[in-house]
Amino acid sequence: MNNKPKSKLLEVSNLSVDFISSKGSISAVDNVSFTIGRGEIAAIVGESGCGKSVTCLSLAALVDDTVSKTKGGIYLYDEKNNIKRNILSASKKELRFLRGGKIAYVFQDPSSSLNPVFKIRDQICEAILEHNPDIDDPEAKAEELLAQVGLSDPGYRLNSYPCQLSGGMQQRVMIAMALAGNPELLVADEPTTALDVTVQSQILNLLKELNLKTTMSILLVTHNLGIIAQLANKVMVMYAGHIVESAPTSMIFENSRHPYTKALLSSVPVLGRGKTKLQTIKGSVHSFDKEYKGCRFAHRCYLREQLGEKAQKCFSSVPDEFFVDESHYSRCHYCN
Ligand SMILES: Nc1ncnc2c1ncn2[C@@H]1O[C@H](COP(=O)(O)OP(=O)(O)O)[C@@H](O)[C@H]1O
Ligand SMILES: [Mg+2]
Repeated sequence: MNNKPKSKLLEVSNLSVDFISSKGSISAVDNVSFTIGRGEIAAIVGESGCGKSVTCLSLAALVDDTVSKTKGGIYLYDEKNNIKRNILSASKKELRFLRGGKIAYVFQDPSSSLNPVFKIRDQICEAILEHNPDIDDPEAKAEELLAQVGLSDPGYRLNSYPCQLSGGMQQRVMIAMALAGNPELLVADEPTTALDVTVQSQILNLLKELNLKTTMSILLVTHNLGIIAQLANKVMVMYAGHIVESAPTSMIFENSRHPYTKALLSSVPVLGRGKTKLQTIKGSVHSFDKEYKGCRFAHRCYLREQLGEKAQKCFSSVPDEFFVDESHYSRCHYCN
């Protein structure tokens, strides 16, 4: 794992995203704060519908603002000039530069991100020219990027159409396109979910390798704790729009405090644990409106059930952060 010293690259401060519809509003992300250091791999983990993708998309102001309302600050630090910029108040021109140039994305399903009717060459060269219109030889750069992401025979692959590549190769092409603008942060939103297991680990190794060779930070989104154990320096556990626990990776595995984190961990099979039954988390993630006063996990929480009448606060107040130490907090009234 990469343990380079980390100056701050990105700071998310009290980010909230509400989706507004005729039926009311849904609080998809509520009061989320975190930082990502230069060269760091931070991970967000949580079930489907917890707000992971909305958080990621907010980082480059990509959430559709005709149906949503975003509040808070997302600050990108410019070390050289010693300034920080709030992405949420950036102009359209600044955002164009920022997207891909500072923050780039890789999504779950490469086959739906690539255009089936254009050769890989055209698609990568377009990404290169977008960020570097004066480049002399975009094709040479495209070949270099394909080699960088470990695609064999890159010159030949440039002539392929997406359907001539396997899922893993397509995802490598998507990563090459994300690297075209030389981003400082790569947001990888479930980058291996659509791939089979052996290819998954190849792509994860590639991300790790890219992170080690450069100062590029990675925000990795996954519902797979095994992936996190291999790759991330820091983990944020999300539940229904809240970060319920945040800690260095080893602490999440060795000393998790929040009942949701514990439930996630005990739902993962571990070799050598014997034939104990895997735990499941009863029920599913609900949507909440902003006014909801209480812990969003309470109705599924085993600790609340165990505590019975003693767990007075679970449905009446939103838990504050309880700091286990300066880099580890949990938002549960009863987790200390
Ligand atoms: N465009 C949208 N319009 C309305 N609701 C949305 C939209 N995008 C996401 N949501 C809602 O926001 C919540 C979080 O979604 P998302 O971030 O995609 O979850 P995750 O990535 O953790 O699976 C969900 O309740 C989802 O239904
Ligand atoms: Mg998602």
